[in-house]
Amino acid sequence: MEILGIDIGGSGIKGALVDTSTGGLMSERLKLSTPQPATPSAVAEVVAELVRQFQWQGPLGCGFPAVISGGVAKTAANIDPGWIGVNVENLLCRVTGCPCRVVNDADAAGVAEMRYGNGMGRHDTVLVLTLGTGIGSALFSAGQLFPNLELGAFPLKGGFAEHYAAAAVRKRDKLSWQSWSKRLNLFFNEIERIISPDLIILGGGVSRKSEKFMPFLSAQAELIPAYLQNQAGIIGAACLAHETLAAEL
Ligand code: BGC
Repeated sequence: MEILGIDIGGSGIKGALVDTSTGGLMSERLKLSTPQPATPSAVAEVVAELVRQFQWQGPLGCGFPAVISGGVAKTAANIDPGWIGVNVENLLCRVTGCPCRVVNDADAAGVAEMRYGNGMGRHDTVLVLTLGTGIGSALFSAGQLFPNLELGAFPLKGGFAEHYAAAAVRKRDKLSWQSWSKRLNLFFNEIERIISPDLIILGGGVSRKSEKFMPFLSAQAELIPAYLQNQAGIIGAACLAHETLAAEL
């Protein structure tokens, strides 16, 4: 089945057509800038524009950077507070005219990485982290997702981990790769006191440059960069939408 996968992020809203039986992209990836302020109506308009650019009228799967329960945004750590309580699914369905499923962006990326990336065939405990504007997290045991885990909100250095160690913080504070890696190591150290993944997969846009920071990283778990890099969110959102929409279509 072909589904338009969309990944709503802090700086860009990306989309591509995904073949959900293989996880492969069936089109170019398009990226539009996330509007600022990223209010529900402004973001919805950009998603509608993306859908128009694809001339798409089929189903949508969308990853969104918040806790999502039943299509509704429950948190707004790195997005406009106006999103809290908004039924993102209904909003995007209304503005695009397409059936739509919305999940947490890191959950979407994690599912793709488990099915088609570096988590493939792993049945032990796998943590997928997305390093971008914030820190997203998706935890799997025996291939099953524990949804809406917010490790970016883990207390670290008097604030949240994502305010100290997200990829955007490295850029903002002009940290060297090594100093940023030290922050990540501290984060791993703290979370490994609570959960014990066997494997940590590091995703997000920065995973394209993994050779710059992987040599400095250490954790109890095995550490590897994401295979699908920044496409994981698009692919996973489409695959998850397929599962829940298939019965209705
Ligand atoms: C949000 C998460 C999201 C992560 C990555 C965090 O600020 O709370 O839900 O997965 O950013 O976008």
